[in-house]
Amino acid sequence: MTRHIVTTDDDPAIRKILQIMLRKEGYEVTACENGHELLALLRTKAETVDLLLLDIKMPGFTGFELLDMLRLSYPHLPVIMLTAFNDLDTGMKAIRLGATDYLSKPVHRETLLSCVKRVLDKAQEQKLMLLENQRTQEQQHQLEVELKQTLATLQSTTMATLEAFSETIEQKDSYTKGHCNRVRTLAVALGKAVGLGKEALSVVEGGSLLHDIGKISVPEEILNKDSTLTEDEYEVIKRHPAAGERIVSHLPQFQPYVPIIRNHHERIDGLGYPDGLRGEQIPLEVRIVSLADAFDAMTSSRAYREALPTEIAIEELKFFSGTQFDADLVNFFIEKELYLL
Ligand SMILES: [Fe+2]
Repeated sequence: MTRHIVTTDDDPAIRKILQIMLRKEGYEVTACENGHELLALLRTKAETVDLLLLDIKMPGFTGFELLDMLRLSYPHLPVIMLTAFNDLDTGMKAIRLGATDYLSKPVHRETLLSCVKRVLDKAQEQKLMLLENQRTQEQQHQLEVELKQTLATLQSTTMATLEAFSETIEQKDSYTKGHCNRVRTLAVALGKAVGLGKEALSVVEGGSLLHDIGKISVPEEILNKDSTLTEDEYEVIKRHPAAGERIVSHLPQFQPYVPIIRNHHERIDGLGYPDGLRGEQIPLEVRIVSLADAFDAMTSSRAYREALPTEIAIEELKFFSGTQFDADLVNFFIEKELYLL
């Protein structure tokens, strides 16, 4: 591929010499007399230019003024500055201002050709690196897009699975129709009210849907019994949190919900089951679901009793605040009027 070099010099003799030497080496050369001509050429053909040779002392724009403009508009175009004989300071200044290299006049053939070759090779190398970087960035972007899509699909699949599970639980216990979904609404709202992050909120949401999964293992005659449970029957009911934990133990994607499944019947005073955890031993997400679960249970009809009016249920929450329920959560629940949801 022929490389295109543009020289800019007000001295016709130097333009001629440069042209002859470079063309002999197979380069395509365009010679400009001054900065205006160079800028006009670049405006239409910058893409075709591989290298600029730029004189410093010229009428009109000086080489340095041009260099300034070029670095802004064509930052990747290499520039070799031509300085007066032995003027090292000017050459160093050119490099500082962004020139790729400099040559002293009069320019000797060998020096010119080796400098041009060196700068062109370096520019080519940088161009390839730039392309490679762009390609890597594009690939990375594409991967991120795909990953986000996969994650979104996975999340919606997981949520659909959770909803299916919660429906299974509710079908078994006819009086709890819609219970899991209402717990989900209340618990997520309470989680937001106390400032839970996205991840914790999703644990609260999934855990709300799954918290009673262990009821699948409780016989229906006990679950739907419309009279007071015997002590033995109550013991069977009390096994549902541990049973739930066992049911999901082989499902890795449900592991974040295990604390809610196992501990949603714990109490702040340590009198709950199955582990007798107390206070902050019970994770916040679990305390949130426990409160939402209890409130919805109180305000829904059950096999053995009618639903409590909301005002009475609120009084119950207040009464058991700090013993059964987390007092701060009870305050939030009431202050934010989440009971209206
Ligand atoms: Fe439960």
